[in-house]
Amino acid sequence: MNKTKGIILAAGRASRLFPITYAVNKQLLAIYDKPMVYYPLSVLMLAQIKDILIITKKEDVKSFKALLGDGRNFGMKISYAVQKKPKGIADAFIIGEKFIGDSNCVLILGDNIFYGENFRGKLQKAKYRNEGATVFSYPVHDPERYGVVELDENNLAKRIVEKPKKPKSNLAVTGLYFYDKNVVSIAKSLKPSKRGELEITDLNKIYLKSKKLHVESFGRGFAWLDTGTPDSLLSANNFIGTIEKRQGLKVACLEEIAFNNDWINKVQLNKLKDKISNGPYKDYLIKILKK
Ligand code: G1P
Repeated sequence: MNKTKGIILAAGRASRLFPITYAVNKQLLAIYDKPMVYYPLSVLMLAQIKDILIITKKEDVKSFKALLGDGRNFGMKISYAVQKKPKGIADAFIIGEKFIGDSNCVLILGDNIFYGENFRGKLQKAKYRNEGATVFSYPVHDPERYGVVELDENNLAKRIVEKPKKPKSNLAVTGLYFYDKNVVSIAKSLKPSKRGELEITDLNKIYLKSKKLHVESFGRGFAWLDTGTPDSLLSANNFIGTIEKRQGLKVACLEEIAFNNDWINKVQLNKLKDKISNGPYKDYLIKILKK
């Protein structure tokens, strides 16, 4: 069976956040009440992906392991790999070659935060498309900062450009990508770009050329948040804090998602709850256990 695997890329220098990220991996910084990496991990969990590789810098592996371990606590399997140099997003598939094997693979950037209704549905749709690739577009006011996709009259990808000076659309390509099992060999065929990186956009262009690039759109009712600068990091914190306080529900609570997915039972959830010191996060888990 072709079991889809997941990769979280958490290896960047995050220099726009210096000095915050001098000594701490960006993806371990707080987004309101939990570490940033919980959010992309929760996305893979919502997509029912249990086998996950976290790619990070050598000096940060220890911290990620301390946080998430081998995933057993959540009924998952989490392993780790190192990106020695910032060689680009598509390099993740070369690093992950053995892990991916013959499977389809989903890549999510460790600093991307997604939030919105019917997210699970969109993820499932992309996952069950067995051939080709799926990317997700989102309207932004500053598309020149991202990969930008142009659609034709049938909403199919017509062109995709990395950080265009004069964007032809306002649709950014978000940091969540679904690929079929050919992704590793395609990644290996890429040449580094001017900035010396294996560009995810170049990889997507190859799928586009063979008419195998699907685009799912996130509309204006959806949130895709950036965490690259102190201001966007603060906004993301406030956004998650606002939603959680209003609803009394948590975004990206890994224990809750694992429980809802039936990956852990009440006894296991109770054990996870007991590991956490008294405070709001523990109170939330107690609430779930009482339901
Ligand atoms: C990368 C990709 C870009 C994509 C963006 C999403 O940009 O190259 O296509 O839109 O992630 O966050 P980078 O973070 O390398 O500037």
